[in-house]
Amino acid sequence: MTCTPVPRVYELRGPLAATALDWLHVHAEVQGAIEGDELITVWLAEAAPPLPFAVHVRELAVDPAASAITGLENDAAIFVAADLLVRPPWVERPAGFSGIELIVPRGGAFGSGEHASTQAALRCLHAVWDAPPTFADIGTGSGILALYAHVRGCPSIAACDIDAASVAAAQELLPAAAVHLGGAETMPKVAGLVANMTASELRAAMPSILARWRQTHVLVLSGLRATEVDDIAALVPHAVAHRVTVDAFTALAYRGSAVVR
Ligand SMILES: C[S@@+](CC[C@H](N)C(=O)[O-])C[C@H]1O[C@@H](n2cnc3c(N)ncnc32)[C@H](O)[C@@H]1O
Repeated sequence: MTCTPVPRVYELRGPLAATALDWLHVHAEVQGAIEGDELITVWLAEAAPPLPFAVHVRELAVDPAASAITGLENDAAIFVAADLLVRPPWVERPAGFSGIELIVPRGGAFGSGEHASTQAALRCLHAVWDAPPTFADIGTGSGILALYAHVRGCPSIAACDIDAASVAAAQELLPAAAVHLGGAETMPKVAGLVANMTASELRAAMPSILARWRQTHVLVLSGLRATEVDDIAALVPHAVAHRVTVDAFTALAYRGSAVVR
């Protein structure tokens, strides 16, 4: 008999609670979270690492017998759109589904398809996809957004992440893609580009992102909380073509000119 580990549950309080949750998504295995304005309850697979933010952290007691969250009950196909789903390899395709499937194993890196910022990015890409001949995924995590480009037939895909475990996971998911350890500055110039990161990460990377995007095809930026959308939109010298909000996260899409540069 296998024993399901009991999750550790923490309350994060304060103005930086959301920032701390973003950080935990990268540096810990987040199994679930309930997000309020300045109070977040987060379920982790293991003890929380020390947080590099001034956030009040309180661990809550979990009764193993009453613990409902195992991290496994979410292993179901996730319908991102009526014709687009994400599922781990061990979950079967829902009967009758004939749309696009992204098959992504959970646990290796951020990007199982459960997070609202991933779903917002996917919905944006899906809405404005214009078949770029080359594509880059900045902050690729599991590689899920690059996988979307692959499944849509993009012949040349590059991806990058500053986290080595994510680079390994994405390279395994997409053997044909060029996956680099580092930021947007490691990427080639591409026709279409996606980046799902925190607003502060996007802001810092924006000059490199814009320098890599040829502006001929789609650009999607995701991971934005409501108060951050206008600040990030102001950094892109184009009109927003499409916007998707899933829970607390918004993705913005821009269309390129389709003129080869
Ligand atoms: C929110 S996750 C997104 C993962 C995946 N693309 C998705 O949509 O689910 C953000 C990822 O960006 C990476 N990251 C953060 N800052 C970065 C930067 N400046 N350049 C490249 N990757 C970065 C993190 O390590 C993390 O894997």
